[in-house]
Amino acid sequence: MSGKIRFGIFGCGRGMFAADHIRDHFSDDAEVTAFCDRRPDQLDRAKAAFPTAMAFDDFDEFIDSGLDAVVLANYFHQHEPYAVKAMEKGIAVLSETTAASTLRECVELVETAERTGAKYSLAENYPFSAACLEMKRVYETGKLGKVMYAEGEYCHPSSIEEIRRLDPETYHWRKYAPMTYYITHSLGPLINMTGQLPVSVTARTCYDEGRAEKIGRRFSDVAAIMLISTDGGAVFRVPACAMFAPHGNWYRLSCIDGGIETVRGDETTVRLSYVPWNLPEGEVTERFYRPEYAFDGEAAKDSGHGGGDYWVIRNFIEYLKGNQGPDFDVYKATSMSATAIQAWRSVLNGSASYPVPDFRKKTDRDAYACDNLTPFVDDEGRGATLPQDSRMR
Ligand SMILES: NC(=O)c1ccc[n+]([C@@H]2O[C@H](COP(=O)([O-])OP(=O)(O)OC[C@H]3O[C@@H](n4cnc5c(N)ncnc54)[C@H](O)[C@@H]3O)[C@@H](O)[C@H]2O)c1
Repeated sequence: MSGKIRFGIFGCGRGMFAADHIRDHFSDDAEVTAFCDRRPDQLDRAKAAFPTAMAFDDFDEFIDSGLDAVVLANYFHQHEPYAVKAMEKGIAVLSETTAASTLRECVELVETAERTGAKYSLAENYPFSAACLEMKRVYETGKLGKVMYAEGEYCHPSSIEEIRRLDPETYHWRKYAPMTYYITHSLGPLINMTGQLPVSVTARTCYDEGRAEKIGRRFSDVAAIMLISTDGGAVFRVPACAMFAPHGNWYRLSCIDGGIETVRGDETTVRLSYVPWNLPEGEVTERFYRPEYAFDGEAAKDSGHGGGDYWVIRNFIEYLKGNQGPDFDVYKATSMSATAIQAWRSVLNGSASYPVPDFRKKTDRDAYACDNLTPFVDDEGRGATLPQDSRMR
């Protein structure tokens, strides 16, 4: 890639984090040349902040404006069709969560990435807090032994005012997304730390009768608790994006010879412990400490999501420059989407265990290539083929 990387931002709500980071930290390598949003208030905000960039309300015109890369921060359940359109034009994709909202889309996304050779990464940010990176570093030393059990929690209780602000439209995805679907903040860090991928999932919800009417959503579920078996023989427990309290993120790796976890209520501190009968040389049985980034700590310090937003953009630019691989390639990204999709089927079918396809395998792609089941609706409220609420089986 010669010259600066030309970025387009699709969706000017969450998408503005990417634009701001590119301008504030990476202007030697990249620039934002175009925005696209069909909400005039969102587009006006972007134009005011980036007056020299082009502004579009139509994706097809936007994607033809001369882009090297696009950040997909449009609706949660509509990333895949736009990722495919971009990759078909040789444009690199950084997609917000979730990569795909049906199993058919997972297959199409993987096959498009393979066929076009276009670069793709999911923009999952929580794995890149200093604490989560330290958990990965320690796990990779091998001193903890094999991971047996891991937990990843993302709890985000919201007031009714916040919920209304987040889902302004009648058929907005946040009104329809079942509680298993927003999975990447809890599962992504565990995949990044251990390198292990889900192979099966079972799930159940907790339910607050009457909540749907109270908050104006389609479901009264408050969280979905998933148990995931991995290809490394471990079990991960993740509650996706739980709407119960207390607020925060928490991660734990429990291994044969030790464990490491973030401290509840202090996400910047980790607790590292080893079994005393197999204590590695130079280690103590237990310590609490506050890890620092190996570099760029100052720049990441004030960035959102525990510093993760900085690293998502930095790593994607380095990937485009050919200096590293993607944070979450198309296989890891679709594995997380598929886990969420299959977990919802588990909820709807008495917590039965469901396989998580491995989209690297042609047999798995063939098995799910026509699987279109979805809880989401179009702009007119049509198209859902699955219930959004765990009691609507
Ligand atoms: N990683 C994170 O920490 C994080 C945080 C917040 C949101 N997100 C993700 O970012 C995405 C966007 O979320 P949001 O909070 O900005 O809310 P949102 O989904 O309501 O906003 C999406 C924006 O995209 C625009 N848009 C959607 N479809 C369009 C189309 N076809 N043409 C033009 N514009 C279109 C909408 O007008 C809106 O402004 C979601 O996928 C969400 O999951 C991620």
